Amino acid sequence: SLLVPSVQEIAKQPNIQVPQQYLQPNQDPIDVSNTISLQQVPIIDLSKLLSEDSFEIEKLDHACKEWGFFQFSNFGVVLEEVKLFARDPLRVSHSIRYDLKLINHGVNPSSVENVKIGVKEFLSLPMEEKKKFWQTPEDIEGFGQLFVVSENQKLEWADLFFATTLPSYARNPRLFPNIPQPFRDNLDIYSLELKKVCITIIKYMEKALKVEPNEMLELFDDITQSMRMNFYPPCPQPENVIGLNPHSDAAALTILLQANEIEGLQIRKDGQWISIKPLTDAFVINVGDILEMLTNGIYRSIEHRATVNMKKERISIAAFHRPQMSKVIGPTPSLVTSERPALFKTLTVQDYYKAFFSRQLQGKSCLDVMRIQNE
Ligand code: SIN
Ligand code: FE2
Repeated sequence: SLLVPSVQEIAKQPNIQVPQQYLQPNQDPIDVSNTISLQQVPIIDLSKLLSEDSFEIEKLDHACKEWGFFQFSNFGVVLEEVKLFARDPLRVSHSIRYDLKLINHGVNPSSVENVKIGVKEFLSLPMEEKKKFWQTPEDIEGFGQLFVVSENQKLEWADLFFATTLPSYARNPRLFPNIPQPFRDNLDIYSLELKKVCITIIKYMEKALKVEPNEMLELFDDITQSMRMNFYPPCPQPENVIGLNPHSDAAALTILLQANEIEGLQIRKDGQWISIKPLTDAFVINVGDILEMLTNGIYRSIEHRATVNMKKERISIAAFHRPQMSKVIGPTPSLVTSERPALFKTLTVQDYYKAFFSRQLQGKSCLDVMRIQNE
C-alpha cells in the first residue's frame, strides 16, 4: 500500500480547492435525492430470529438472496456463546460447534453508544497523535487508505483506521496498546459482541438454506474480525469525489455501524444506486464475497459505495468477519447439486485476500475471477 495524506487535514483548510487526485471524472452520478422508502429495505429483528420465528428466518433468506443486505435491529440482546464439542464421529475433524443462547439481560445499547463516542474522538485526534498510528509501507493497518496501488490513481475523500480486532492474539502490537482508554476497552467489548451477532446470523442462514448445522459455521471457529473506521470529511464538491469506491467486501459478513447517523452509504440494486438511511439502533449487515462463494452464489455479495456531504462529516465502522487465512473456502457441499453445479473455485482465504488486496477496489471484479465457467 502506498502512503497517502490525511484528507481530514486537507478539509480543515479554509476555502479549500479539492486537489485533482480526489476528483472523479467518470463516476456514476451521485444523486443523494434518489432514496427509496425505508419499508422496502429488509429489516431483520434479532429477537424474532432467536425465537425461531420461521417468517423472520425466511425474511433473512430473502434479504440475502435479493439484496445481499439488510438492516438488523434489536441487536442489543445479549448472546452467550457456548462451545460444544461435536460427538458426531463423522465430523471428528471439526471439534467445535457453536450454540447460542439468549440470556435475559434485555437490550444493552451502552457498548454501542460507547463505541460511537469513542470512535469520533479517536478519528478526530490531532495529527501529531495520529501519526503514531499511520500506515507504514510494510503494514496496511493503521490510519491511511487501502487499495492504493499506484502513484497516479484517484484517491478517496476519507481517512480510515484499519486493524485486526479478533482473535485478540492477532492484534497489531504497534497499534493496540496506543489506542486511548476507555476507547480501547470499549472496542474490545464491542468486537466480542459483534462476533456473537455474526455467528448467530450465520447459524440462521444455515437454517434458512437447509444445510447441515455447522456445515458453514465450522469454518468460523476462531473467527477473524477486522475493523475499518471511516471518517468522511465534508467536501465542497461532494458530487465530484467519492468517499469509498464501489466494491463488494472480501469477507464473509460485514456488520456496519453508521456511527453519527449521517447518510452516505449506497448499495447497487438492479443497476441503481440506493441510499441507505441510517436507522437508530440498527446495524447494516451485508453478505461479502466469501459468503457468496460458500453459498454457491445463493446469497449475494452486494456492491456498495460511500458518498460524502457538503457540510457534515460522516463516521462509520465496518466490522468484517471471515474464517482464518488457512481455511479452505468454496461452495459448501449441500449447496452443490447436479442442477446447481459449483459456481466458484475452491481456494484458501489467504489466496483470496492476496488477490483482493493487490488490486484497486472495483465492483465485484475480484469475485468474478473465482467463477467457474460452466457451460
Ligand atoms: C464500508 O463499505 O466499509 C463502509 C461503508 C460506509 O461507510 O457506510
Ligand atoms: Fe464495504
